Amino acid sequence: MNKLVTNKTRLGFLASGAGSNFLNIIESCRANALNGLPILLISNNSNSGAIQIAKQNNIDYFHISSKTCSDPDLEITRKMKEYNIDLVILAGYMKKIGSEMLAEFPSRILNIHPSLLPRHGGAGMFGEKVHRAVLESRDKKTGATVHLVNEEFDKGRILGQLEVDVAMGDTAESLASKVLAVEHILYPKIISEYIGQINNT
Ligand code: GAR
Repeated sequence: MNKLVTNKTRLGFLASGAGSNFLNIIESCRANALNGLPILLISNNSNSGAIQIAKQNNIDYFHISSKTCSDPDLEITRKMKEYNIDLVILAGYMKKIGSEMLAEFPSRILNIHPSLLPRHGGAGMFGEKVHRAVLESRDKKTGATVHLVNEEFDKGRILGQLEVDVAMGDTAESLASKVLAVEHILYPKIISEYIGQINNT
């Protein structure tokens, strides 16, 4: 465990996939663009890119899922507490956050979603499905949203959004990469602002 004493906000991450947001936030912390310290990664996917990134960056990590334990929510909560995490960052985490985590970290769990919520959110709306829904709805704009996590999928208070235009000829794939690019701008900025807010309250 990292025992470094610092005034920086201790960040714990949950991620399921490639982990580009996770890496981007690590790099933002390193560049002092964000007053946080990446401490811990938990992934439900033992093959995730996020776990590789944690290894490469000397960040403690655990694989926790319904395959590894009977109550992942409880186990995740225990780890986050053991590591004294101040703020939990969902970085492409595809599982619902359970009641233990919500009770232990009220208004301390942030998520990024690849659409302009409230459009195209909710259960089952993640990854490519979101971008296909945008195209099917013929929306002229899409983007990314950072929000607080509550008991309902993608319904917590919105902290910030960045838009991108949907162009003629866009595909789910092209939208995914355009939205991901703005996610990498939006997420560190909003996390930084939120850390400022919680440190002033
Ligand atoms: C990101 O686009 C993120 O918004 C999305 O998964 C991707 C993860 O990419 N999250 C969701 O769909 C959550 N509902 P990454 O693993 O490269 O950060």
